[in-house]
Amino acid sequence: MPDRLTRDFERFGGGLPRDAAAHIREIYGIDLTARYLGFTIPHPIGKGSGQLSLNAEQLETDRAAGLAFVILKTVIAEDAGGSRSMEAWAVHETRMKVERRPAADGREGWTVTWKGRGWDRSFDDYLALVRRGAELTRAGELLTVPSVKYHLPRLEEPFREEEYRHTTGRIADAWGAGTLPLEKDFSPTLAGDALADERACILRWLREVPGRIRAAVDGRPLRLALKLMNARFDDTFQLDMLAAAAEADALVCFNRLWDEQGRVAYGGWDLSARNLRVLHEARQAKLHRPALVGTGDVHSGRLVLEYARAGCESVELHTFFQLPLGEYPATAGSRTQRALHALLFHPVEGMVAGMLELERAGVLHRRGGELRYLDLCEQAA
Ligand SMILES: Cc1cc2nc3c(=O)[nH]c(=O)nc-3n(C[C@H](O)[C@H](O)[C@H](O)COP(=O)(O)O)c2cc1C
Repeated sequence: MPDRLTRDFERFGGGLPRDAAAHIREIYGIDLTARYLGFTIPHPIGKGSGQLSLNAEQLETDRAAGLAFVILKTVIAEDAGGSRSMEAWAVHETRMKVERRPAADGREGWTVTWKGRGWDRSFDDYLALVRRGAELTRAGELLTVPSVKYHLPRLEEPFREEEYRHTTGRIADAWGAGTLPLEKDFSPTLAGDALADERACILRWLREVPGRIRAAVDGRPLRLALKLMNARFDDTFQLDMLAAAAEADALVCFNRLWDEQGRVAYGGWDLSARNLRVLHEARQAKLHRPALVGTGDVHSGRLVLEYARAGCESVELHTFFQLPLGEYPATAGSRTQRALHALLFHPVEGMVAGMLELERAGVLHRRGGELRYLDLCEQAA
């Protein structure tokens, strides 16, 4: 098997088969089936919201590469008059820097430094992208998920219902038939905002926002994921956030860390270390929580498996889809294809290698002759 894996790794470096998951199932007896918000997907690797899911061309590239799902860039909610309470998040900023970032323990990782925030074009443009995503989803080609940032009030203030109703209603109209998957972003930039100093305020948002969004779709089918941030408090508060968000259908854990000095959000090994530590703490505390999706510093198949062992049914990546081309072992294909090639087939760091190793170690067992990715998540639960 290791020889076969090395051969596949070399061969697919020149071009990844679109249905890599089917190949892995047939050759290695490994079933990578995963879930995002209750939708069954062929493998757990998807794209997090950001600058890599802004237009139909990017969706087409990801569909062709065989990515499992894509979260669209976060749009800033508005009311019927076009007014947006989170206006400050809709800044236009094009300059992104992909750079090395050493972790506190010295390990070298990657981060993307960027000072922009949400969607900076019109809401109608966003709805056109949602329509395209809904078509791809219904065709079973690529699960595509809109993402929204809505009004977040101070503790003594009411929510601006009109913003929730108008934005969610129009997205649901654009989506059309079938269950609408939606992510609500509690952005990392929030961590730099004065409001983010209010623990009670954050917990109230997490408790009350799901109800506001559900009320806004008038009974149409909706599944809601909350993307939680890394707040500027300790691990215990991260657990408090997980507990407060129990009304969501899934939780995406956790968005980037905040660099107080540089005034930027960042990733790298510090991010995966913190996220995995907190998710394991939640498991040990037997915290009752919705389904989990991992995000943060997933740069190898091994990291995908670590998030699975912490309970995550799928993972959303951003930085790893944006590295300089020379960092991927593949020599052809889109960045999405090259990233998937490394994550799945790398003979040491890839998912296939990692799952075979877990089998040898007696952690994962074949059922019906197959090793199953979702068994790892279930073990964690
Ligand atoms: C340039 C950039 C823009 C991002 N924009 C958004 C966004 O609009 N909404 C959101 O929910 N997350 C956003 N993210 C967070 C990513 O989706 C992802 O969760 C995070 O970067 C951690 O994953 P990574 O370490 O693989 O990058 C952004 C990240 C980057 C680097």
